[in-house]
Amino acid sequence: MIVHHHLQVSDGLLHGSKHQFSRCRASWQEVGGVLVLSAIPFTAVKAIANSPLGETLERRMQEKKRAYLTNASLYQSLQQEARNNSFWYGENRPRWLGPIPFQYPTYLDGQLPGDYGFDIAGLSKDPIAFKTYFNFEILHARWAMLGALGALIPELLELVGGFDFVEAVWWRVGYSKLQGQTLDYLGIPGLHVAGSQGIIVIAISQFLLMVGPEYARYCGIEALEPLGIYLPGDVNYPGGVLFDPLNLSGDADGFQELKVKEIKNGRLAMLAWLGFYAQAAFTGKGPVQNLVDHISDPLHNNILSVLWPPL
Ligand SMILES: *[C@@H]1O[C@H](CO)[C@@H](O)[C@H](O)[C@H]1NC(C)=O
Ligand SMILES: *[C@@H]1O[C@H](CO)[C@@H](O)[C@H](O)[C@H]1NC(C)=O
Ligand SMILES: *[C@@H]1O[C@H](CO)[C@@H](O)[C@H](O)[C@H]1NC(C)=O
Repeated sequence: MIVHHHLQVSDGLLHGSKHQFSRCRASWQEVGGVLVLSAIPFTAVKAIANSPLGETLERRMQEKKRAYLTNASLYQSLQQEARNNSFWYGENRPRWLGPIPFQYPTYLDGQLPGDYGFDIAGLSKDPIAFKTYFNFEILHARWAMLGALGALIPELLELVGGFDFVEAVWWRVGYSKLQGQTLDYLGIPGLHVAGSQGIIVIAISQFLLMVGPEYARYCGIEALEPLGIYLPGDVNYPGGVLFDPLNLSGDADGFQELKVKEIKNGRLAMLAWLGFYAQAAFTGKGPVQNLVDHISDPLHNNILSVLWPPL
């Protein structure tokens, strides 16, 4: 009901007309209709839940879950064994100070990928905070890697691939959208999924696309259980056909190394983003153009010449 009301209001606002705005006053028949219609699914679900059919369904789901849990614990003990045997995990893993002796924090036990014993600020002393920080780190790492691809590829394609984008430089794309430009995907003329829409449609699409993953992240992998989807891993590496379609975790030893590579590349990508921001602010160009400028004339196009331009 609230959603219904809302849509009408924003519809009215978008069109900016008094006539349409008045549509948000619904008659009592409409309100009654909506109430009855929205009550039907709940009543039906409740009826099924209380019936013998509901009990059978529930029993079957619990049996299924038990089978999946057995698989999940087998999966996890294989992964644990792989970590125990890996160079990158456990007591003898590489540390950030290399051979220099140091009292590394004991709560960093080498069970997570990319743990070099580095936590000078003691941020991860609290185990719950530690979990949260790792979850944030891996999430930001993945977004940064995806984002870096998205920032570099269009500019590369335009510079060397013969593509013609309305705007290839990552930080100016949003601006050209605000100017009312139509954006083609991959520079293919006429291919615009949301690129021809207004900024509001794009914002709504982005919101909807983010809600799913964020919901799953907050609720954990159990969030999918009502749909009959049981996952063997944990919240950061859920596994299963849905999250690991290539069965990369099937080879448990290889998978532990892939995790290390992932977080390393992710950290690099996060750093790269700092660079992208700084470059955009100082040079006003895209990262690929900056690199090309630097390679073609390293003496005159470098960080010093940007910070202290020759007079
Ligand atoms: C458990 O794992 C085996 C082998 O990976 C698979 O064949 C079986 O279908 C799985 N069972 C469930 C309930 O996922
Ligand atoms: C991994 O090592 C720990 C202790 O180092 C041990 O308790 C555990 O049983 C080992 N797990 C596997 C699956 O090998
Ligand atoms: C994934 O690969 C492993 C090892 O190659 C294999 O044992 C397992 O059955 C595979 N799982 C699926 C779902 O294909």
